Amino acid sequence: MQSGGPKLNLGAGGTAVVTGAASGIGLELARSFAGLGMNVVMADIEESALDAAVAEVAEQGSGVRGVVVDVSSSEAVVALARTVREVFGPVDLLCNNAGVGGSSPIAALDLELWDWVLGVNLWGVVHGIRAFLPGMLEQGSGHIVNTASVAGLLGFAGMAAYDVSKAAVISLSESLHHELVATGATGIGVSVLCPGFVATDIVRSRRNRPDHVVEVEPDPAREQLREEILRGYGEALNPSAVATKVVAALREGLFYIYTDDDFAEPIAERNRAVESGAAPPRLGYLFEHLLR
Ligand SMILES: NC(=O)c1ccc[n+]([C@@H]2O[C@H](COP(=O)([O-])OP(=O)(O)OC[C@H]3O[C@@H](n4cnc5c(N)ncnc54)[C@H](O)[C@@H]3O)[C@@H](O)[C@H]2O)c1
Repeated sequence: MQSGGPKLNLGAGGTAVVTGAASGIGLELARSFAGLGMNVVMADIEESALDAAVAEVAEQGSGVRGVVVDVSSSEAVVALARTVREVFGPVDLLCNNAGVGGSSPIAALDLELWDWVLGVNLWGVVHGIRAFLPGMLEQGSGHIVNTASVAGLLGFAGMAAYDVSKAAVISLSESLHHELVATGATGIGVSVLCPGFVATDIVRSRRNRPDHVVEVEPDPAREQLREEILRGYGEALNPSAVATKVVAALREGLFYIYTDDDFAEPIAERNRAVESGAAPPRLGYLFEHLLR
């Protein structure tokens, strides 16, 4: 199996930066890295949740800092990188994890909603790479984990903005990997995390949605899908299990990081469709598959 780069030393004294660290997967990643003795910089847009999360992770005794950042702002992420360098020096691990859920059927999908979802989920990752990669290239080491989703490999009806953002993050991560290999930057690695259903606050993403961004009025079919998704989340993976898998995958040097096997068959079916030219697996397949 081809690796996502050199195996990373996740030991004491290293520095990890996690975006979207006030909740869910990001918070669990921060807890795990602090537990390994790393300095951890927790970045998030939600100040009150971040303060509480930082206070709790700081009890683990390592160097823990919280920085309020909107990852969709290039300037804010550049400022984050500057602060981290001033406080902790070189960054060993960057997790571009902040993300929001949101979409509407494509014909009714406002440009503002496209902008918000792509701004956080895709541009947030682009800004993170642009701000931190030069320092890693200079020091000749480091690892970047970009959080995508199985939704980047499988399209869902009614979720175009989210699906597109996550497909782009997978593509960006693959391009970065090829560039690092092609330029001989062998000390730097990249991985792309593709979670399935994880029990987090992603279903409450509208808490961080700017006021001017609106979703179309709920229609009954979409509400039913939403109900099914929420029901699916009731049985979803605990985010701490995701963090454990990420740490193990980093130690193994994996590029694609999956959280479970639930989506393995749909992804394989989609890949077979890519090869044969057939249409992708039909809508609803995934939910039927997961909720049966
Ligand atoms: N939970 C799942 O089932 C699932 C599945 C696949 C992928 N993901 C991805 O995992 C990542 C983490 O999400 P989660 O599930 O832990 O959800 P979550 O809502 O619990 O956490 C997301 C965090 O990102 C922060 N955030 C939102 N907008 C931001 C911005 N503009 N700048 C900085 N921070 C911002 C939020 O405040 C929150 O703390 C996301 O990229 C999400 O798309 C989640």
